[in-house]
Amino acid sequence: MATVAQILKSKPDATVHTIDASALVYDAMKRMAEKQIGALVVTEDGKIVGIVTERDYARKIVLMDRSSKATPVHDIMTREVRYVRPEDSAQSCMALVTERRLRHLPVIDGGRLVGMISIGDLVKSIISDQAFTIQQLELYIRGERA
Ligand SMILES: NC(=O)c1ccc[n+]([C@@H]2O[C@H](COP(=O)([O-])OP(=O)(O)OC[C@H]3O[C@@H](n4cnc5c(N)ncnc54)[C@H](O)[C@@H]3O)[C@@H](O)[C@H]2O)c1
Repeated sequence: MATVAQILKSKPDATVHTIDASALVYDAMKRMAEKQIGALVVTEDGKIVGIVTERDYARKIVLMDRSSKATPVHDIMTREVRYVRPEDSAQSCMALVTERRLRHLPVIDGGRLVGMISIGDLVKSIISDQAFTIQQLELYIRGERA
């Protein structure tokens, strides 16, 4: 089973995309579209204060009839952030996203933000582990490997 550190290494880009809490929601959405991602870690004076996602936008801007060009990120961000650590397993992260209905987990190491993993990253990693196990079992059944 892969660890968070291994999943992070397999990502093409190690950058963690963040946005300041005072930025406009419009700029946050623009950044997400440019980077083709669904969440940004929100910072204030260099500290993590929340996470803002496409879901926050849908529920707190569109459905509440607010303007993304007149609303700062801190008004719609989710303040309670669940973190994971590099040594955590993909399985424990999957349990967390399933139980808490999350789609993104920032990764913290020694108090520092070192990465972001998404539900898509976790599914990809778990499918690849399972494919490997199936391949090994097929070889074993065919007697090609002891
Ligand atoms: N997981 C992937 O490798 C990947 C890559 C591109 C697109 N997609 C597709 O996009 C859809 C949703 O994907 P998802 O659940 O992975 O969410 P997502 O679209 O938010 O994430 C896409 C990729 O960007 C990364 N990412 C997201 N926010 C980030 C941030 N703030 N800083 C740094 N990296 C960040 C994720 O870790 C993931 O690797 C799915 O349909 C999926 O198939 C997935």
